[in-house]
Amino acid sequence: MRVGVVGLKMGLHLATWCRRVGMDVVSLCDRDPERLAAAKERLPEAALTERWQDLLTQGLDGVVLANDFDAHAPLALSFLARGVHVLSEAAACTSYEEGRRLIAAVESSSATYSFAENYVFHPHVRLIREAVDTGEVGRVSLIEADYLHGMSPEAVAALIGDPLHWRGRIAATAYCTHTVSPVLAVTDAWPVEVTAFSVDEADPRAAVVMTVRLSTGALAVTRHGFLQGEPDSHWSWLSVRGTHALAESVRGPGEQAWSVRFRTEAWAGPEGTTRDEVRVPPPLVLRGETVERAAEGTVLLLQAFRATVERGAPPLIPVRPAVAASLVGVAGAESLRNGSHPVPVPDPV
Ligand SMILES: NC(=O)c1ccc[n+]([C@@H]2O[C@H](COP(=O)([O-])OP(=O)(O)OC[C@H]3O[C@@H](n4cnc5c(N)ncnc54)[C@H](O)[C@@H]3O)[C@@H](O)[C@H]2O)c1
Repeated sequence: MRVGVVGLKMGLHLATWCRRVGMDVVSLCDRDPERLAAAKERLPEAALTERWQDLLTQGLDGVVLANDFDAHAPLALSFLARGVHVLSEAAACTSYEEGRRLIAAVESSSATYSFAENYVFHPHVRLIREAVDTGEVGRVSLIEADYLHGMSPEAVAALIGDPLHWRGRIAATAYCTHTVSPVLAVTDAWPVEVTAFSVDEADPRAAVVMTVRLSTGALAVTRHGFLQGEPDSHWSWLSVRGTHALAESVRGPGEQAWSVRFRTEAWAGPEGTTRDEVRVPPPLVLRGETVERAAEGTVLLLQAFRATVERGAPPLIPVRPAVAASLVGVAGAESLRNGSHPVPVPDPV
């Protein structure tokens, strides 16, 4: 399978893993010559270009889009029109209209769209999802997801302080896909309505909390941005309260943060006694080597992308949930602008 990669910071990480899961990385693109030079050292066999349009005519089977967060959809539309399968980083779209166009493009393309939302496939998220799928926790009532970075004020300013960089120009609610995508996957729901709040009015861009009413009737509470106390699970924490049990990733240091605490009250368990235990996810092994926890989601996504392109397997996260998660950030931004009033999330069908 011949792939190209656009955007070579996160994209170089993805390109390296593409090769490790058996894809042929034939083309690398970045408008920044320094990023291209660094990529050349890591993947010397790939062709280099500063123009992503060059990749349209290279006979690629698939393309990985890891350019600016708020600029993925136009590239996705172009590659889909050429019949090149797309694996796109978050976000999928930045407006309702763009989301609608993206869905229409996938429907009329011979190629597929997969969302590169590795947070859905982190070890603790998979363990919780399994417990929901088997019915162990009951119907989900409340689901909470965090994507929080405990960084110094100087480091935060360096990351989001430049209004010319995508991290500085996107709305404070936009980067919600690492929390909302796991929420939608675990609950098998669609977002219906969003209310967003700045955590600290003295520093409104630093962190936001969103409440998201889901189509199942459950409530999701998501937090993302920069707050102290993050867990070591790639800044990801997830908690699900079902009608029968709690499943919650451990808010502990190091490897513990990938584990999940399950709690079933005596009245709800088959044994008639309270069950409270911590489960450690099984390791993921790739060609005889254990994959580091933080990369498990990426490996599973890339293996699935390969299966989609080579064998026609359905995308792990197809375009609709990708657009839905992205539109939560769009609706959240509107809610922030209008004084934290609830904003409906339109169905982009
Ligand atoms: N899933 C994850 O765990 C994860 C982690 C980090 C970043 N990301 C996502 O990856 C994407 C990129 O993030 P990043 O941290 O690498 O950002 P970045 O700004 O550091 O890097 C983006 C790169 O893309 C290049 N680029 C942008 N537009 C381009 C264009 N039109 N043509 C060619 N090159 C172009 C830039 O020059 C830059 O080198 C974002 O969508 C981000 O959300 C995901």
